[in-house]
Amino acid sequence: MKLIFCITLVIISNVCSTRISKTTKPNIVFILIDDLGYNDVSYHGSEIKTPNIDELARDGVRLENYYVQPICTPTRSQLLSGRYQIHTGLQHSYIRPAQPLCLPTNLPTFADKLREAGYATHAIGKWHLGHYKKDCLPRQRGFDSFFGYLTGSEDYWTHHRPGDGILPNSNHWLGMDLWDNERVAWEYVGNYSVFVFTDKIQQIVNKHPEEQPLLLYLPFQSVHAPLQVPSSYEERYKNIKNMNRRIYAGMMSCLDEAIGKVVQTLKKRDLWDNTVLIFSTDNGGEVAAGGNNWPLRGWKRSLWEGGMRGVGFVTSPLLPDSVQGTVNKELIHVSDWFPTLVQGLAGSSLGNVTLDGFNMWKTISSNASSPRKELLHNIDPWPNQPKEFSSNISAAIRVGHWKLLTGDPGANNGEWIPVPDSGITAISPIKINGKDTWLFNITADPYEYHDLSTSHPEVVDELMDKLKKYYVDSVPVQYPEEVEEANPAFHDGLWGTPWQWKAE
Ligand SMILES: *[C@@H]1O[C@H](CO)[C@@H](O)[C@H](O)[C@H]1NC(C)=O
Ligand SMILES: *[C@@H]1O[C@H](CO)[C@@H](O)[C@H](O)[C@H]1NC(C)=O
Repeated sequence: MKLIFCITLVIISNVCSTRISKTTKPNIVFILIDDLGYNDVSYHGSEIKTPNIDELARDGVRLENYYVQPICTPTRSQLLSGRYQIHTGLQHSYIRPAQPLCLPTNLPTFADKLREAGYATHAIGKWHLGHYKKDCLPRQRGFDSFFGYLTGSEDYWTHHRPGDGILPNSNHWLGMDLWDNERVAWEYVGNYSVFVFTDKIQQIVNKHPEEQPLLLYLPFQSVHAPLQVPSSYEERYKNIKNMNRRIYAGMMSCLDEAIGKVVQTLKKRDLWDNTVLIFSTDNGGEVAAGGNNWPLRGWKRSLWEGGMRGVGFVTSPLLPDSVQGTVNKELIHVSDWFPTLVQGLAGSSLGNVTLDGFNMWKTISSNASSPRKELLHNIDPWPNQPKEFSSNISAAIRVGHWKLLTGDPGANNGEWIPVPDSGITAISPIKINGKDTWLFNITADPYEYHDLSTSHPEVVDELMDKLKKYYVDSVPVQYPEEVEEANPAFHDGLWGTPWQWKAE
């Protein structure tokens, strides 16, 4: 086992690489949780019980300086492509159900590269990387199979959703969105998505030929709004008075059980010993929908730490004993998974692909220092898109210990919100009108209490210069108007019959 690990780890070395055969490539299971807050797993001290997640985290390497993006599409776009949003045009917001927009189809995904490397590639869950034309869909983006939904959220039981209300009357555009490859999965109307997805995952694992390496990309619907869960899970949390928090806690328990089942199934098939499991949230918790990020500042949709500092860990019997059960404090970002999986785990070359991510496998498996010294959180100049960067543009960058925020960071004023009924009082910062620059030493002050922008103007200047350079290197924001053609009424009551749209 450890020998195989050595082989995958030091893949670059000729001694080892000559002994690689297809079957020694590790299976990769990537679990992406939707809207999981920093304070919503018990191993971070939450009142929500997540025994299966905790056990996996406890045996693995917990990433405690790990960043994602503040919302759904951005994190998924960077995970799949290894590119910052300034290089994909997806800097602004998320892909709306009726928007003719997707992750640029000229960019390879990590699934493309793993498929080239011989992996069977399966995606089960939420896509949210665009669906207006066939080239945008999962099976055109490196996945052998897809079971799930294409838009950003929907009802957990009916698998229907309305439009988002931006086009007139579109909040009445009700459409079904659950797909088994290109077929509508009508038979699951009325079945809770966690159970449906877990069944599908188990079927794939049970049928998988063991001589082929396996990629399971598992972007669960949980625990995004709407707050819905079978009542037996909610009943476990009778002690939680706040209704949103109580249902959310039940959703986490249901998800935790599902993750336990997936791991059990891999173990039963004898695939687990050769599996690397990565667990990540897609962004911070949504405080208005049950999530919590205490003691971090802000929440989902913001460039404060509560929006982006993610729950994440890597666990595997292939990890050396020396790192099993440890906490890793190296700077790691969601864009780093592409090269980490493709180079670090599958041992493939990146070829001509340009990336913003770094191969973190040595950092994770031997606690080597992170190759990442800098992290562009985002620059979103929508809608003005001026020629030059200035501090009224919403942006954030991390360089070493320092983090600079400019423009509107989101989440109102960036309050610190405790768990409801915890007896702790929310903290509101003093609002200064017109303020558009903040500087924090995140290592010393991870909760962003002490703005140092006036005491360290030289650091502000240095980071501002870096933002200016990144801005010059950006592609224009793509954020087209939604189109009437997307109305499910024109497509047999379905979202995502994309090849019928005439949006281009
Ligand atoms: C949907 O759920 C019902 C009730 O739990 C179950 O009997 C049925 O088998 C499920 N349908 C499918 C297709 O899994
Ligand atoms: C990169 O390599 C792939 C094949 O590996 C090729 O199809 C593609 O055209 C190349 N792209 C560029 C920009 O050279």
